[in-house]
Amino acid sequence: MWKNSKREKRAMGEQNFTKKQKTDKYVNKWEKRRGGGGGVGGEEWEEVESPGKPRKYTISIGVPATILEETCIKDELRTYVVGQIARAVTIFAVDEVVVYDDRCWRKRTYASNPSATKDLVEMMRMLLEYQECPQYLRKHFFQYDPHLKCVGVLNALNAPHHLRSNQWCQYRDGVVLDKGKKTSSFVDVGLGTDIQVDQQLEPGLRVTVRLPPEAREMKRPYGELASPDEPREVAGYYWGYTVRVANSLTEVMTGSRFSDGYDLLIGTSDKGQDVRKADFPAFSHALIVFGGVEGLEAAIEADEELEATEPLHLFDRYVNTCPNQQSRTIRTEEAILISLAALHGPLAAQGH
Ligand SMILES: C[S@@+](CC[C@H](N)C(=O)[O-])C[C@H]1O[C@@H](n2cnc3c(N)ncnc32)[C@H](O)[C@@H]1O
Repeated sequence: MWKNSKREKRAMGEQNFTKKQKTDKYVNKWEKRRGGGGGVGGEEWEEVESPGKPRKYTISIGVPATILEETCIKDELRTYVVGQIARAVTIFAVDEVVVYDDRCWRKRTYASNPSATKDLVEMMRMLLEYQECPQYLRKHFFQYDPHLKCVGVLNALNAPHHLRSNQWCQYRDGVVLDKGKKTSSFVDVGLGTDIQVDQQLEPGLRVTVRLPPEAREMKRPYGELASPDEPREVAGYYWGYTVRVANSLTEVMTGSRFSDGYDLLIGTSDKGQDVRKADFPAFSHALIVFGGVEGLEAAIEADEELEATEPLHLFDRYVNTCPNQQSRTIRTEEAILISLAALHGPLAAQGH
């Protein structure tokens, strides 16, 4: 009995020691950098400068979840395809991905449609959100889920907000910790030391924190809460994408998170107008919609709420982004990369 409790105590002590060692390691790293900045024995901060100019306009894309059913039979492949969509979205600085049900399954009851049980919409949403989340925050926001069982095949996004602990950027995303006081909170932003924010925030919340330049020299650094749009709107950083689920094409168009909705709707198809000949009007919030295996026509037909019966009536522009395609079909995941490459320049010229 005595032996047991002694052993337990020792084990607990060892556990605490390991935890303490870990904390010391982080604190030391922070201390080193704090006293560093190129100084003797100090670890250099790697500055993350804003690569672009401040940007107010946004780009959203609509992606049908059925592409995971039609084109991939294994979860590894499905995961990989979603991962490549996330990469295309990041490469071309897309701000919102709307995962939609192009067959309107989710509007009907599960019992009447067995295919719906697969819930591909949920899988795509979760994988996109997982990949967008900075690595140091994933343990706070994602528990094990069958949809995440193949995340090992995902390629890293290397997005500007996916910062390493030795990188200094004026903004960082973090999670509010359960140790705040009445007037302030602590946020883990992946720096090895928690950032104090003079606001009472709900523990577990994902937030964006603005760090003053002097914070890197402080023993107990502080920051201020910022809107997640601020890094883009004020400093020109691409700050990741949000994910929204829509049960139909109608919901893709009408469920916008922007108060005035989307003001430029672009449909994509090999039957559309040659993108090189299309002129785009000035806009604030553009939405580019992709169809599934049967194209946007099928998504329009499946949606009983839509008055439009063909894409030309629904979109401001209906474009073919690969006018000389030599394969008879372009898969949706390929079309996303091709279309974003073709539209990126023309849209950047008209966004305000
Ligand atoms: C397999 S295709 C659908 C069938 C059909 N060929 C079409 O484009 O309407 C899947 C989706 O990829 C996109 N896509 C395919 N080819 C495209 C092209 N040449 N230009 C723009 N988008 C294209 C569209 O969003 C389309 O709905």
